[in-house]
Amino acid sequence: MAIDPSASVYTRLALRFYDFVVLTVSNLFAWRCPTGSKLLPFYQAHIGENAHLEIGVGTGYYPAASAARLAKVKLVTLLDLNPNTLAFAQRRLTRAGYKGDIEAVERSIFDPLPEEMRARYDSVALFYLFHCLPGAFPKKATDVFRNVVPALAPGGVVYGATILGKDVAHNWFGTRLMKLYNGKGIFGNTEDSEERLRQAMEETFEEYEVQVVGVVALFTGRKPRQVA
Ligand SMILES: C[S@@+](CC[C@H](N)C(=O)[O-])C[C@H]1O[C@@H](n2cnc3c(N)ncnc32)[C@H](O)[C@@H]1O
Repeated sequence: MAIDPSASVYTRLALRFYDFVVLTVSNLFAWRCPTGSKLLPFYQAHIGENAHLEIGVGTGYYPAASAARLAKVKLVTLLDLNPNTLAFAQRRLTRAGYKGDIEAVERSIFDPLPEEMRARYDSVALFYLFHCLPGAFPKKATDVFRNVVPALAPGGVVYGATILGKDVAHNWFGTRLMKLYNGKGIFGNTEDSEERLRQAMEETFEEYEVQVVGVVALFTGRKPRQVA
């Protein structure tokens, strides 16, 4: 099956360099939102009690670095369009000592989730997914939220982080990476602004928060609005 460049770029070789290139160098110097002091604590602060859904898994850095925090969580479901990332992240989470069930779902988040995933998760993480997806805020985010929200258990949270492309000040390094990645279809974020993300969140959730660190929006959404 041919997969979109937003996912196909993550070959087994690319995944070996991902943490250094993206999580260490780019997050610090291009996007100005450090992994260790900002993104990881934000990720861990919102992990739920019973079941966690990780969408767009990459190398599985965040869940693996949170294995201790996940100890009481019985189920971690990994969802991604790319089988390489699913296998990589699953192996890494197991090696990190996570003892609960790990489920891998190969699927695009633009497709509705399977019935058995409904009302199951206390936390759903969308880290560095939106800026990879083609399309623009608010539609791209409302489309994804529409698919994700049915998976939330009562009281659950959808949270994540995304690199903004519009109405933010990119530095020299960030501008170069934006051009390169958007040109190749690895990113699709030239029209993604904080305001448009807020519109998607307002449309989807009764309670939400968005904060911007560097050029990265960190968001949480709770209490999905009832759709007719
Ligand atoms: C930039 S990586 C993010 C990895 C990880 N969450 C992180 O923050 O380090 C984006 C991930 O989203 C996945 N992805 C891209 N398009 C997708 C889609 N339509 N549905 C599901 N996953 C997708 C890619 O395969 C990749 O694993």
